[in-house]
Amino acid sequence: MMGHINNLVVEMVRDALGDDAVADLFAKAELESRIYQPEVVYPESEFQALFRGAQSVFGVGSDDAEEAFAAYFMKRSPEMFPAIFEQAGSARGLIERIPTIHRNFPASASQDAYRDKVAIIESTPERIVLEYDSPNQLCNTLRRVARICLDYFGEEGAVHETCCKKEGAEHCRVVIEFHGQKAGV
Ligand code: HEM
Repeated sequence: MMGHINNLVVEMVRDALGDDAVADLFAKAELESRIYQPEVVYPESEFQALFRGAQSVFGVGSDDAEEAFAAYFMKRSPEMFPAIFEQAGSARGLIERIPTIHRNFPASASQDAYRDKVAIIESTPERIVLEYDSPNQLCNTLRRVARICLDYFGEEGAVHETCCKKEGAEHCRVVIEFHGQKAGV
């Protein structure tokens, strides 16, 4: 996982609970306290330890942690990357850009370590279908972020998962439907 996401987990804890909770987070994750290089790919095990640490610090399970993280991700992302949101212009515009945004994020030195986890397997005026395959099993986050994308751009639609790796499927599959006037834009 790229350091950008690890940093967001740390910042989410700091914003909600303060610096002492961040020290606690790293202790619970059994990691050295640090700031990550945003564009460097770190071991997935490090992200997983951090995310489990965050659950422990907040005293919540993985579903609640993913919901909170999705909300934090979609609060911070427009603040950090306003041009991406402006150019995207719509939920479809942003969701269609996910593979490109992710692929362009790692520094050149980390390109070899990067692999795609979110792929677009269908895009029609009515819907986009995403396939998600990751050892981090963040499909709840994916669904929730997609839902917040619709809300962010003031659009109507629906998000659902049609199969899930946690339930034995080969990949997770998330469908984003576009309803109302902006469908197909
Ligand atoms: C400004 C927009 C965005 C930025 C800057 C961004 C950036 C990133 C980065 C750097 C990663 C780490 C990738 C890796 O190391 O493999 C990531 C992961 C992820 N992103 Fe995005 N992203 C954006 C938009 C989105 C949107 C709109 C969605 C979903 C609708 C999304 C879903 C995810 C998911 C689910 C992961 C976790 C992948 C894993 O399992 O490791 N992202 N994002």
